[in-house]
Amino acid sequence: MVRDIVIYPDKRLKVVSKEVTSFDSELHTLLDDMYDTMISKKGVGLAAIQIAVPKRVLIINIPLDDENGKDEQPRENTLEIINPVIVEKSGINRHQEGCLSVPGIYENIERAKYVQIEYQDRYGKKCKIEDDGFLSIALQHEIDHLNGKLFIEKLSFIKRKKFEKEWKKRRKNTL
Ligand code: CO
Repeated sequence: MVRDIVIYPDKRLKVVSKEVTSFDSELHTLLDDMYDTMISKKGVGLAAIQIAVPKRVLIINIPLDDENGKDEQPRENTLEIINPVIVEKSGINRHQEGCLSVPGIYENIERAKYVQIEYQDRYGKKCKIEDDGFLSIALQHEIDHLNGKLFIEKLSFIKRKKFEKEWKKRRKNTL
């Protein structure tokens, strides 16, 4: 089921999400709803707090290029990450990021290049993942959500000011 996305500057986006302790059908429904919501908005990642659920749950689905040049995001390609912990990171990378909670805004953000993460899957099984490409960036962006942080908080003072002005203007135009 597609759920509503919490949009900046909603204060719920600042909440620090809580650890998951039961890997039950309620969690599985949450993961399924997160997938439906992310796909409906053509997103590549979503944290549970973005649909107003303060649990340490995130999903990532990086589109595959098929031969027709159409982006595909098959369900089985979705990474489901619960209670993630960054155990190692190194290097620096800059990449353009966007966020379903700040729609239409894209900014270059500096992050670690390489990360190694320990997490649990939907059944509570312990897993590990590492990456130094786009997945690494997506993981760091979504883990920030679990800690109540948004990518726009990483902008310089001047760029943040510019963003706030632009955002106010856009919000006014859509009311
Ligand atoms: Co986001």
